[in-house]
Amino acid sequence: MLHVQTFSTKGIKKMNDRRPLIAGNWKMFKNGPEAVAAAIKLANLLGKNHDVDVMIAPPFTALAQVSDAIKESRLSLGAQNLFWEFEGAYTGEISPAMLVSAGCEYVIIGHSERRQYFGETDDTVNRKISAAVDHDLKPIFCVGESEKERESNATFSVLDKQVTSGLKGFSSNQLKALIIAYEPVWAIGTGKTATTDQAQEVHRFLRAMLENSYGNTLAKSIRILYGGSVKPDNISELMAMDDVDGALVGGASLDPETFSGIVHFQI
Ligand code: 13P
Repeated sequence: MLHVQTFSTKGIKKMNDRRPLIAGNWKMFKNGPEAVAAAIKLANLLGKNHDVDVMIAPPFTALAQVSDAIKESRLSLGAQNLFWEFEGAYTGEISPAMLVSAGCEYVIIGHSERRQYFGETDDTVNRKISAAVDHDLKPIFCVGESEKERESNATFSVLDKQVTSGLKGFSSNQLKALIIAYEPVWAIGTGKTATTDQAQEVHRFLRAMLENSYGNTLAKSIRILYGGSVKPDNISELMAMDDVDGALVGGASLDPETFSGIVHFQI
């Protein structure tokens, strides 16, 4: 029997067995000591009781220190990127095995900023997801359309291509730990959040794609996060949507009190 979590308020009922995940992407902010201080403050604010998974992804240089600092807490650690090779002459790159040894459980892959500024493609994203899977890192696979693509009604075809190419060649067994983050590019760092209907519509579409390719059981178990200007005052309505299983938070994850306000959403 699956454990079914029921969240309800204001007549909204949400019944599924997906454990919410609130993930903080700290991007290129905070040096080692700053990251440790923020992580400890957050861990203290969140306490030990949890029915929500919480992950923070500091910059590479802070990973090992933050990992030590949060060992006894409910927080998990994630990285913001990886390279797919195990080791070698790849100046400036970080391997999946290095992330594991630094204490990471999750890794963000294919963030739109990496696609936009660092030339990541659906193909490199596919290789990175594969490397993460091989090393038991939980991939947080980011997809999302630009403003222009949304305006020209290309949202679903863009997402279809990103997901199909990004997950090419995987069996359902390999995707058990997969997490998808829907981050509309126009909502990142802009203060413009997708409406709850827009988010739900896309999340539903992504889950239907997963169902088509991998069957109902896997599709029902994969967590789909929303990202893009998530704040304490909009998280609850987003989380009330059936297919929104958490959030990938940028700016509002940098301040422990604000992030804790997001983790403590109410639906
Ligand atoms: P903001 O929350 O700052 O819009 O960033 C979202 C994001 O890019 C998370 O990965």
